[in-house]
Amino acid sequence: MGLRRAAPSLTHACEAGTGDWFPAAVAAPVHAAGVQPERHNCAPIDARQRLAPASLRAVSTPPDIALRPARPGDLAALVALEQTAFAYDRMSRRQYQRHLGSDRAILLVAESAGELLGSALLFLRRHSDLARLYSLATAAASRGRGVGRALLSAIEALAITRGIRRIRLEVRRDNTAAVALYEGHGYRRVAALDAYYDDGADAWRYEKTLPDPAQP
Ligand SMILES: CC(C)(COP(=O)(O)OP(=O)(O)OC[C@H]1O[C@@H](n2cnc3c(N)ncnc32)[C@H](O)[C@@H]1OP(=O)(O)O)[C@@H](O)C(=O)NCCC(=O)NCCS
Repeated sequence: MGLRRAAPSLTHACEAGTGDWFPAAVAAPVHAAGVQPERHNCAPIDARQRLAPASLRAVSTPPDIALRPARPGDLAALVALEQTAFAYDRMSRRQYQRHLGSDRAILLVAESAGELLGSALLFLRRHSDLARLYSLATAAASRGRGVGRALLSAIEALAITRGIRRIRLEVRRDNTAAVALYEGHGYRRVAALDAYYDDGADAWRYEKTLPDPAQP
């Protein structure tokens, strides 16, 4: 698979628009001092921590690329990737900081030789087995190598360990690369959202039902 021409800079797959989706997860400091993690229908934290590394190891990745949960030390690189991958509605350092420690977000990175090549961010909702993929980005120089696909597989694998059964996302209709990635990964188009984004661009909404871990 050769390197593809980088997709044009686009807004997030799922930023606010007219969506009724998880606004609290985007805006609220869920890990702020004094805020206790809420109970939801997911595995307890200890079990999650046990399950997460194994789930990630099971994901097939391009050679020399590792996937792992983001750490505070990734902040600068995450913000830099955000700047290059998205034209506007970018997430700030502060937002990333918040999501890094949040019980309601899964933030993954792909790296090679200490360099951050991509990231994916999934929002979870209390009392719900439906999660929202908010962001997925591969550094321009690393596109077309399977990084995006690996991040998507990994975030799904981790979502399953958190009791998530479905993932939803919105993507600009003109984002050919992302649309092909999601469709090739089993996401089903469930809605057409006209003028969804702040700049008037239209979106598709996609959804995928994840495999049931209880089923052999
Ligand atoms: C969308 C994006 C994450 C894809 O990441 P990537 O690492 O290049 O993707 P991969 O190499 O894993 O490719 C996986 C699949 O995506 C699709 N794809 C990737 N780039 C493509 C392109 N330029 N044109 C068409 N399809 C493309 C293909 O279906 C590909 O599968 P294939 O290799 O079997 O054909 C990347 O282009 C990106 O970061 N874009 C800017 C940010 C963005 O738009 N994010 C998505 C919305 S939040």
